Amino acid sequence: MDALATIILAAGKGTRMKSQTVKVLHPIAGIPMLAYPIKAVREAGCDTVFVVVGHQRERIEDAFRHEGLVFIHQEQQLGSGHAVAVTEPVLQGFSGDVLILCGDVPFISPQTLLSFIGAHRSARAALSVLSVIVEEPTGYGRIVRKADGRFSAIVEHRDATEEQRRICEINTGIYCCAAPLLFEALHQIGTDNDQGEYYLPDIVAILAAKGHVVQAVVAPDSGEVQGINDRKDLARAEQRMRERINAAHMAQGVTMIDPAATYIEAEVRIGPDTVIFPGTVITRGTVIGEGCMIGSACLIERSRIGSRVKVLHCSVIEQSTIADDVQIGPFAHLRPGTILDERVHIGNFVEVKKSTIGRGSKANHLTYIGDATIGTEVNVGAGTITCNYDGRQKHPTVIDDHAFIGSNTALVAPVTIGKHAVIGAGSTITKNVPDNALAVARGKQVHYEHYVRIGRRSQSASVQQGDTNTT
Ligand code: UD1
Ligand code: CA
Repeated sequence: MDALATIILAAGKGTRMKSQTVKVLHPIAGIPMLAYPIKAVREAGCDTVFVVVGHQRERIEDAFRHEGLVFIHQEQQLGSGHAVAVTEPVLQGFSGDVLILCGDVPFISPQTLLSFIGAHRSARAALSVLSVIVEEPTGYGRIVRKADGRFSAIVEHRDATEEQRRICEINTGIYCCAAPLLFEALHQIGTDNDQGEYYLPDIVAILAAKGHVVQAVVAPDSGEVQGINDRKDLARAEQRMRERINAAHMAQGVTMIDPAATYIEAEVRIGPDTVIFPGTVITRGTVIGEGCMIGSACLIERSRIGSRVKVLHCSVIEQSTIADDVQIGPFAHLRPGTILDERVHIGNFVEVKKSTIGRGSKANHLTYIGDATIGTEVNVGAGTITCNYDGRQKHPTVIDDHAFIGSNTALVAPVTIGKHAVIGAGSTITKNVPDNALAVARGKQVHYEHYVRIGRRSQSASVQQGDTNTT
């Protein structure tokens, strides 16, 4: 491509969002809005990308610090024209074209950008504006043409006459302009408008009046250039992005029982023949293999899941790694750092945190496993708890291969249970258990003979005197 520099405007606060967070950092499908136009210009072959930042610029620069962008600081937000003007010092001497777009147009495609730049170049235009015909133009800048049809100005909605407001061709906020003319025109714009701002669209009238070729290029798809200004726009964008993402997964062989109620963020990979039930949320960076079943109302956050895994209803999986043929849930909670090897079963009301569980091991009911390393083919009985926290520090639990942990066992960490060891139900284990041993650590069972016949009162009196008849 011929010399092209791209400027993305992102200094505005986004007042209409009514948010503590600057508009361009609001996520759509789990990714900040600004990432989408950046990706589009990159895919269109633009290497030099300037981003004009102002409000919360540290947060924006931090979020995009690995993208190879050049950030330019607009200290005061004096309008979109002023935002472009602040790039002049860095573009000094650049004689190519400048592509300008806003950080709040996430659906713009590289194809549309490429054909827009192509139209600009083939018309040998000084300035091209991407326009679009919409049914509801309220709020947008209108493309004003002379009687002969020639494009002469953009007039903002709030500055437009009744007649101009009836124009349905609007400014998308995407421009391509020869750099020297761009800055020359920007020197001439004023603030004589309803908002008292330096309007970038004013360069149209300035260049047109000087006889330069200015053109409005109509974009084929109005949805692509939809800007996001408020929360309603954001919700619509989220829905649209979701439809796009789900359609792509379905095209790759994923079944969704109800795609409208399946929430998959961007940058998720799912293998064919995996079935996803409604109400489930899968976040960015997750990878799921083939032939899995993901039940309803699950949350899978930044995790790697193998093939043929069953995640039953209402389970939460966070930053975990799950091998093939594992079964999880219903109502299980895998917290960050959980690693489950093949064929592990984690059942209902089981919580696992920062633990590794070996091949074929099972914890099927009502259990807490934290900071533990569990070997292969271990059975963890119902109600087992690794007591990993002493109020100050976390301690590890190790359970070796083939151990059997009886129900309602408390494993007071740090503690190690040996290979093939068996723990009697209800034990509180505070010492390491050797391989092959049976450990029982619980109060002995007491029987008070004839308790019912003799009467509870006298029996309890004799119990208090230590006069017991036990077995
Ligand atoms: C703008 C256009 C309008 C067009 C619409 C398309 C102007 C004056 N109007 O209106 O013709 O129809 O986009 O969506 O440009 N910005 C800065 N610094 C500033 C001011 C704005 O960086 O000082 C950035 C914003 O972050 C945003 C962009 O410029 O990315 C446009 O500003 P915004 O306030 O959203 O303009 P609109 O009212 O949407
Ligand atoms: Ca806007």
